[in-house]
Amino acid sequence: MNRPRITIIGSLNMDIVVSMPRLPQIGETISGMDVHYVPGGKGANQALACSRLTADVAMIGCVGKDVFGEAIRDQMNGNGVSLAAIKQLDGVATGTAHISHTPEDNCIVVVPGANGHCTADVVRQFEETLKTSKIVLAQLEVPLDAVRTAFAIAKENCIPTVLNPAPAQKLPHELLELTDYITPNESEWELLYGQAMNTEARLGVALREWEERYSCKVIVTRGEIGCSYLEQGKLMTAGAPKVKAVDTTGAGDAFNGAFVYGLSIGQSLRDSIAFAVKAASLSVQTFGAQDGMPRLEQLQQ
Ligand code: RIB
Repeated sequence: MNRPRITIIGSLNMDIVVSMPRLPQIGETISGMDVHYVPGGKGANQALACSRLTADVAMIGCVGKDVFGEAIRDQMNGNGVSLAAIKQLDGVATGTAHISHTPEDNCIVVVPGANGHCTADVVRQFEETLKTSKIVLAQLEVPLDAVRTAFAIAKENCIPTVLNPAPAQKLPHELLELTDYITPNESEWELLYGQAMNTEARLGVALREWEERYSCKVIVTRGEIGCSYLEQGKLMTAGAPKVKAVDTTGAGDAFNGAFVYGLSIGQSLRDSIAFAVKAASLSVQTFGAQDGMPRLEQLQQ
């Protein structure tokens, strides 16, 4: 089978997940039910999502030379993600994400550690990997300059780029002009665009303005609603199936992994989005960011 090469630039974290009945108030102490240490990080989650769908995945990123770094490398390797571009750095800790997991949703605090050392210089070391990719995907848990460098190499080689702008931050025009597809969630989209989207009509207008300004397709993920985008100037919403969510951590990553996989095998935008919505819906039914990433057979059913 011809497996598309997908390159992902991003973070690798150890997720320290504390399950609790609700979030504590400021100054309050409550009892949690469980603590789990599971590999995560938006970059690693998206890499694993693509690999489970049978893509040939290279991940550019950094971990520390420590127990968490080793566990993450084992997890990537065991799931078919190439370790060739995952650097192990001396003297820095592997990134960690501290996740408060409640029955309804989660809150995350990330300590970047080695991810902060995934610089433009690191990316340039893997220029050949980027140049031989079908598509390049990045998020914002590594320095912005690393993402910009990877996208510049991709664009010089006519390779499409997808940016998942998470965690949210304002982005320089230069990066947006190197981006073909951007996949914010609703709050990230409001921050990027600079205005609240109070109505569907407002969302449609904002998407039209943005796409004209940057020649960059916007796909807004909307949790249980599904996701919205423009098709020939008309606002479309791909609805999500109703499911019982166990853990929403990594749902956006499942979406992005499946979306780029769809594009990489030549599916239309509409089909790639529908495929990605289904992947995200499946992922929330299992605990942990990576364990719930669906396999191709599950999505084809
Ligand atoms: O998108 C979910 C991820 O965000 C978690 O795995 C955590 O590591 C944070 O980076």
